[in-house]
Amino acid sequence: MENFVYQNPTKLIFGKGQLDKLSDEIKPYGKRVLIVYGGGSIKRNGVYDNVINELGKIGAEVFELSGVEPNPRITTVRKGVEICKNEAIEFLLAVGGGSTIDCTKAIAVGATTEADMWDVVTKKVKAESALPFGTVLTLAATGSEMNAGSVITNWETNEKHGWGSPFSFPRFSILDPVHTFSVPRDQTIYGIVDMMSHVLEHYFHQTPNTAIQDRWCEGILLTIIETAPKLLGQPDNYDYRSTVMLGGTLALNNMLNMGYQGDWATHNLEHAVSAVHDIPHGGGLAILFPNWMKHVLDEENAPRFKQLAIRVFGVDATGKSDKEVALEGIDRLSDFWSSIGAPSTLADYNIDESSIDVMAEKTVIARPEFGVYKRLNKQDSVEIFKASL
Ligand code: NZQ
Ligand code: ZN
Repeated sequence: MENFVYQNPTKLIFGKGQLDKLSDEIKPYGKRVLIVYGGGSIKRNGVYDNVINELGKIGAEVFELSGVEPNPRITTVRKGVEICKNEAIEFLLAVGGGSTIDCTKAIAVGATTEADMWDVVTKKVKAESALPFGTVLTLAATGSEMNAGSVITNWETNEKHGWGSPFSFPRFSILDPVHTFSVPRDQTIYGIVDMMSHVLEHYFHQTPNTAIQDRWCEGILLTIIETAPKLLGQPDNYDYRSTVMLGGTLALNNMLNMGYQGDWATHNLEHAVSAVHDIPHGGGLAILFPNWMKHVLDEENAPRFKQLAIRVFGVDATGKSDKEVALEGIDRLSDFWSSIGAPSTLADYNIDESSIDVMAEKTVIARPEFGVYKRLNKQDSVEIFKASL
């Protein structure tokens, strides 16, 4: 493995009833608080009322930005930045899933600069500071609650880009699995696919000697594969919700990739699809990941796929070539995702051949080649999208 420094400043507050720590966590930062949330799920499941009640304990002056979209938009970020500047906001609180948290991260940075946040997202301008912010997570999926990443969409240019900065870590994140009981079945499935995809993105890299990290990844995948069907059968089961919630956080708090850089080509491909068609992130990954795997698999790199097939999917390797074992593992991954109800073709979202070229172009906007496990270019994107139709 490579040399590394690991530091994650986010305080993780996990478990039933932990929302009652919210007022104490916010107190040191000030009383002018902007709550950021989505389309209203937090009003229906009671989380909003509990948050307001907590803020009341410190006499906070509460401002609100609601309506953050799934696949959050730069226009909404700009609205939030304006509120922060006009109202001298001291602390931001994201209450929701990855989209709400990502939007809040962008608002927090945007509030302290004169630059337009799209220039920061597209890396023309460097983030230099941010307002402090915390999160109350209501959906297990992205890991945004304990990382510095954020993904923002611009509908004027049909672009969706990830960005991050040292200032974009939440100060704290409150994870009560009970808050995820109300997540609908489809979003629960997308979240499961997303966290598994994060582990898989880490898993495919070119750095030797990552034995501990490999086993961490495999352990998380095995646990999610074991728990997901049980959770879908009992969506109100605290133990299953908590296992999956912790899985989502660990999958992308950058602990798994200590000492190496994972692949991340499939996320780049999915962001291109979402930028054009606004589909759910986890749904896109379920379609694209197996096709990325089949596209990059060759004789030379088959041993890593084989390790995954044997250790995670229990493939019997007796009498088979590495490539045969690898392909069986990929099929079992697809079968698992189909078995829990994830989509498997772009046609499931009514996406056909006509948009392949425009989506492929989006995959190379930021750079001509992408992916660490195997370098890919626009033609590779075209081929992977075609195989995913
Ligand atoms: O908007 P509301 O009404 O809250 O409803 C949301 C939304 O419709 C609903 N929901 C959330 N919690 C709920 C709930 N419904 C009922 N009960 C609850 N407790 O779920 C829907 C989806 O929410 P969203 O936040 O969009 O989902 P997710 O957490 O999957 O976030 C997806 C976004 O994160 C980005 C994706 O690209 C996408 O834009 N990602 C962010 C990453 C990061 N920051 O590290 C990494 C990921 O790879 C990903 O790219
Ligand atoms: Zn993801």
